[in-house]
Amino acid sequence: MFLKNIDKCLNIDDFRAAACCRAHRMVFDYIDGGADDEKTMAQNSAAFDDYELQFKVLTGVDNPDTSTTLLGEKIDVPFILSPAAGNRLFHHHGERGPVKAAEKVGTIYSLATLSSLSIEDVAAMTSGPKWFQLYVWKDRVLVKEMLDRAKAAGYKALILTVDLPIAGNRERDPRNGMTVPPKIGLKQIWHGLQAPLWVYDYLTKPEIKYANLSGAGSAVTLNEFVAEQLDASFNWDDAEWLLGEWNGPAIIKGVVRADDAVRAEKTGFNAISISNHGGRQLDTSPAPISCLEPIRDAVSDKTELIVDGGIRRGTDVLKALALGANAVSFARPYLYGLAAGGEKGAIAAVEMIADAIRRDMILMGAKSIKDIDRSFIK
Ligand code: LAC
Repeated sequence: MFLKNIDKCLNIDDFRAAACCRAHRMVFDYIDGGADDEKTMAQNSAAFDDYELQFKVLTGVDNPDTSTTLLGEKIDVPFILSPAAGNRLFHHHGERGPVKAAEKVGTIYSLATLSSLSIEDVAAMTSGPKWFQLYVWKDRVLVKEMLDRAKAAGYKALILTVDLPIAGNRERDPRNGMTVPPKIGLKQIWHGLQAPLWVYDYLTKPEIKYANLSGAGSAVTLNEFVAEQLDASFNWDDAEWLLGEWNGPAIIKGVVRADDAVRAEKTGFNAISISNHGGRQLDTSPAPISCLEPIRDAVSDKTELIVDGGIRRGTDVLKALALGANAVSFARPYLYGLAAGGEKGAIAAVEMIADAIRRDMILMGAKSIKDIDRSFIK
């Protein structure tokens, strides 16, 4: 209930608690929640406990190099920021928070199709590297329009999310009456009494909507929106068509099986994002970290792998790298930071993970990212 000072947050769980204090319950639960019984969401984090880091001693590493390259882009840390919808729901700074956080640590920002600031407005905020995440609209004209806009605004790579043909069963959202734009009834007013700063922003700032779509939408649930707008019949042939339209570097996001990874590589994707959408889609699907080794072994070395799901600590990142990931990505950590303290909170959360990677590389005796191999993990 009492606001927590983000300067006192020592870990991502502290940012989560701070977000819970400041944000309205419906938006906190939208960030924090998963599908069905949230088993996959819990397992995403818990699965990291199956691995131990085998550190080396007396390696003389005092200033590790945390930089790496992803699809030809040099980044200063071995992670990128995952796309996440509607950031202005969580704090009025919206996508600006994570954009500035990515810039601060020197990495790639991925903008979601369903962002609350537009493709062009976000591009104007930063000269840092940007990727664009796409859902597949029923309206192919709209798809082409989005691709053209992203390309014109300087987004270098396309992330095609494939694990959301329809929305998962996230029970917290209907319980809270969550819609976009938020619809305020008696329950929301009651919960709003506990989140006065969020309510103040809601009442005084421009309406929250999906900024890349024209026209002011009426309040709809995510399930309604997705069922109406997105194309669940989209298949591998359509993916090939899309790659032709984009004609640039592309990542497929939401793969957990080695056979799908091989198919993605053959279809022409340059990178695979091993992900189950943060446990928000098919509950009881496997934790991405457990899918990494079989996928690494199945695809060629030139196909880059990004892993997300449950990453909260520097050691989680290093475990993924040791198992063969080229980089990791995450959204909840920066969304908790954003919801807790706007741009400052998002930056603090992302910097915390960057600092932890550096510290843990010294403790592990790893001089650079390419040094982190399977010998470091058991
Ligand atoms: C989500 C979608 C929209 O809420 O990415 O998970």
